Amino acid sequence: MGHSAMYKFFIETYGCQMNAYDSNIIAALMTMAGFERTYESSDADILIFYTCNVREKAAKKVFSNIGLLRSEKTKVIAVGGCVPQAEKNMIFKCKHIDIAFGPSAYRKLPAYVSKILNDEEDRILDVELTQSSKFDCCNAERTVSRSEFVTIQEGCDNYCSYCVVPYTRGKEYSRPAADIISEVKMLLAKGAQEITLLGQNVNSYNGDAPYISIGKPRGSWNFERLLQEVAESDGLKRLRYTTSHPKDVTVGLMKKHAQIDILAPFAHIPAQSGSDRILKLMNRRYVAQEYIDKLNMFRDICPAIQFSSDFIVGFPTETADDFEDTLKLVREVGYLSSYSFKYSPRSDTPAATMSGQIHDTIKAKRLDILQRELMRSQTLHNESIVGKTMETLFDKPGKKSMQYVGKNVYMQSVIVESDIDLTGKFGMVLIEKAFKNSVFGRLV
Ligand code: SAH
Ligand code: SF4
Ligand code: F3S
Repeated sequence: MGHSAMYKFFIETYGCQMNAYDSNIIAALMTMAGFERTYESSDADILIFYTCNVREKAAKKVFSNIGLLRSEKTKVIAVGGCVPQAEKNMIFKCKHIDIAFGPSAYRKLPAYVSKILNDEEDRILDVELTQSSKFDCCNAERTVSRSEFVTIQEGCDNYCSYCVVPYTRGKEYSRPAADIISEVKMLLAKGAQEITLLGQNVNSYNGDAPYISIGKPRGSWNFERLLQEVAESDGLKRLRYTTSHPKDVTVGLMKKHAQIDILAPFAHIPAQSGSDRILKLMNRRYVAQEYIDKLNMFRDICPAIQFSSDFIVGFPTETADDFEDTLKLVREVGYLSSYSFKYSPRSDTPAATMSGQIHDTIKAKRLDILQRELMRSQTLHNESIVGKTMETLFDKPGKKSMQYVGKNVYMQSVIVESDIDLTGKFGMVLIEKAFKNSVFGRLV
């Protein structure tokens, strides 16, 4: 490649944590190839946009940001991830884009960038979905922070009728367990103390087991087995995972939460809706009561557990009564935190062409009502930990000077004052005050 430190690259990342993970690997590969990372887009020769296509807003933002971030210095614009994967026939309508690459093509990005820089090609499109080789370079040397992601599974076979992910990330693929364990060990050796295992559906993990002894069949590990093995890694202080499909949350997993003390007692289990009719149209494969029963059983087995969820309002044909059922479910579960979205039609998904699309003003109104209800619940949870002492992993300075912000086991934002830099450190915090989106405390 031989561009040495002459050329600088800038990465802008959108979407889910799997994109954050991929972006870390892309940065490592570009650095190994001799490019230099910059955090100033105006200083970059190469702009990399790593994109999300889950809702229209996220997808559109990329194109406006390409316009905003381009500068006189820009020589190459590469757009990667879920937008080019889903929009492969349209992507070059944006004339500024030189390289479009899907979520499993990033290994080749440094070579593609060199080709564009050397004028060997005009434009490059690579949207082949080859998940197994995608992870070949995940043990690449990279800068490691206290809290790190590790993708264990990618792709989705659930085909919820609104969702584009099965088309952008492909079929479910589980990385071999040995690769995951060795990546975890590498990250821990370099100073990570918290690991989050990532996947569209971590609970359906089913990866090749490492060889036990010669002559025995290798077999595979399920998610519970993988969790157990990762949890036993030396130096790991906190373990998390995301995301779970409700139908794949097993009693075995609930028991792991009760048994493994470094496993955070917090589970993101998206409900999407509380209406059985809408859940059926969404192809979610559970009814509201089954979902609630499962969460109650989870609480029986692991009393410390708290939940978060995702919701979609204004799915085609959603009536006021359907929406009321969602509010009912929200009140019944009492989520610690949640994300909620207006339904966004995505091309090639069945829901996009269903009759009974809901007008945006109704979606906006329902979203507002739902978010208030979720916020009420979140605030109550924040208030309920006042007076408790909780371990917090600090990840950044706060808004005011001498303030540091971190996360407790429940992912609540904890703010403290300190005259020493706490970034990257664990500390015990006595919680003194609660707000809507954070709590305030002091180190003890
Ligand atoms: N695999 C994960 C995450 C999928 S995307 C899961 O199943 O939980 C994250 C969230 O985006 C989904 O849970 C859903 O609430 C939301 N989402 C997906 N497609 C959407 C669409 N077309 N419109 C609005 N929200 C959507
Ligand atoms: Fe999308 Fe459903 Fe798969 Fe989640 S489970 S990624 S919402 S299709
Ligand atoms: Fe978005 Fe792709 Fe993740 S569509 S949510 S970046 S899997």
